[in-house]
Amino acid sequence: MSKYLVVQFGVFYALLFPGAVGFVPPPTNVSVVCHNFVNILYWNYSKPTEQTKFGIKVEAYESPSQTVDTSQTYLDISSYSRNVDDDYLVFVTAHDGQEKSENVSIRFTYIKDFFDKNKHKCKCSMDFPAVNTSVHKDVIEVFFQHPFMLHKQDLLNDEFTYTITHDEQMISYSCFEDEELCTAEIHFNQSIAVQCVELTLEGMIAGIPSHTYRNVCVPQQTPPETDKTGIIAALVGGGTIVLFIIMGFVWLLCKKLSQIPKIPEFLRNVLPSQSPATQPETNTISRMTSQGHTPLLTEETFNYGSTPSSP
Ligand SMILES: *[C@@H]1O[C@H](CO)[C@@H](O)[C@H](O)[C@H]1NC(C)=O
Ligand SMILES: *[C@@H]1O[C@H](CO)[C@@H](O)[C@H](O)[C@H]1NC(C)=O
Ligand SMILES: *[C@@H]1O[C@H](CO)[C@@H](O)[C@H](O)[C@H]1NC(C)=O
Ligand SMILES: *[C@@H]1O[C@H](CO)[C@@H](O)[C@H](O)[C@H]1NC(C)=O
Ligand SMILES: *[C@@H]1O[C@H](CO)[C@@H](O)[C@H](O)[C@H]1NC(C)=O
Repeated sequence: MSKYLVVQFGVFYALLFPGAVGFVPPPTNVSVVCHNFVNILYWNYSKPTEQTKFGIKVEAYESPSQTVDTSQTYLDISSYSRNVDDDYLVFVTAHDGQEKSENVSIRFTYIKDFFDKNKHKCKCSMDFPAVNTSVHKDVIEVFFQHPFMLHKQDLLNDEFTYTITHDEQMISYSCFEDEELCTAEIHFNQSIAVQCVELTLEGMIAGIPSHTYRNVCVPQQTPPETDKTGIIAALVGGGTIVLFIIMGFVWLLCKKLSQIPKIPEFLRNVLPSQSPATQPETNTISRMTSQGHTPLLTEETFNYGSTPSSP
C-alpha cells in the first residue's frame, strides 16, 4: 500500500516538475569506433529537443581530462585521445537547458596489456602495414613500411617487433623507423609440392598489436614447361589438321575444274546449280550497269532524232 503511494507520488511529482533530476533521459547505445588512431564516439538519443546538447568528458590516466559539447549524436574524439599508450574513459551526458541526464561511460584503449574484457566493450585496432612480397627461387622477400611512417604518432617512433609464421614455423624480426622499409626473408622448402605459402604476420609496437595474413603463390619451375609443350603440341596438331583439310579442298577443286570441259551434256543436267545459276546473274549485272549510262544517251539521241520527225 505504502509502496504504491510512493510510486504514485513520484509520478505526480515528475509531472509537476518536469525539470526534476533524472527526467532528462541519458544517451543510449554509446560506442567507440577506434581504428588506426581515429576514435569516433557514437550514441543514440530517444527524445531530442531543440535545446538538447551532449556533454562529452574524456578522462585519461596520464593526461588531464577534457570536455566538449555537441548537438550531434557522434563526435570525433581523436584530438582528445592522442596518447596512443593511454587508457581512456569517456562520459556522455545529455543536457536539456539547465537539466542534465545521468552520464553513460565507455572505456577504450589500444594497449593490449590495458585491455580488460569486463571494463572495455570496444576493441581498438591498428592495421598491420600493407605487405608486399617478391619471390626469388626458394626465398620469399616480405617488405612493408614501418607503422610510424603511416600514422605519424610519436609513440610509434619505436621498435616494431613482428613474427612471421608459415608451415607451423614462427620467426621473429624487428624493424626501426629509420630503416627505409621493414624487410624479412622467408626460406621455404622448394621440394614441397604446395605452390602457395600462407604467411601470418603479427606485430607489436608500443604495446599495440596488429596482424595480417598473406598468401604467397610460388611459380613452380616444372608445370609451366609442360603447359608450354602442351600448347605447342596442340598448335602443331591443329595446324597439321587444318593443312590436311586445305589440301583436301584444293585437291577437290582441282579435280572439279579439270572435269568441267570434259563434262558431257547429260552430266551438266545432273549439276545444274553451277553454270546456269551464274549466267543470269552476270546478265542482270550487265543490264544494271548498261541502264545507268545508255538510257540517257539513247533518250537524247531519240529526242534529237525525233524533233525533225515530230511535226
Ligand atoms: C540501440 O541500437 C540498436 C541498433 O542500432 C537499436 O535497434 C536500438 O533501438 C538502440 N537502442 C536504443 C535504446 O536506442
Ligand atoms: C545508434 O548507436 C549506434 C551504436 O552506437 C550507432 O551505430 C548508430 O549510428 C546510432 N544511430 C543513430 C540514429 O545515431
Ligand atoms: C557520472 O555519474 C556518476 C554517478 O552517477 C558520478 O559519480 C560521476 O561523477 C559522473 N561523472 C561525470 C563526468 O559526470
Ligand atoms: C606495395 O605495392 C603497391 C602496388 O604495387 C605499391 O603501391 C606500394 O607502394 C608498395 N608498398 C611498399 C611498401 O613497397
Ligand atoms: C624439404 O622437404 C623434404 C621432403 O618433404 C625433406 O626431406 C627435407 O628435409 C626438407 N628440407 C628442409 C630444409 O626442410
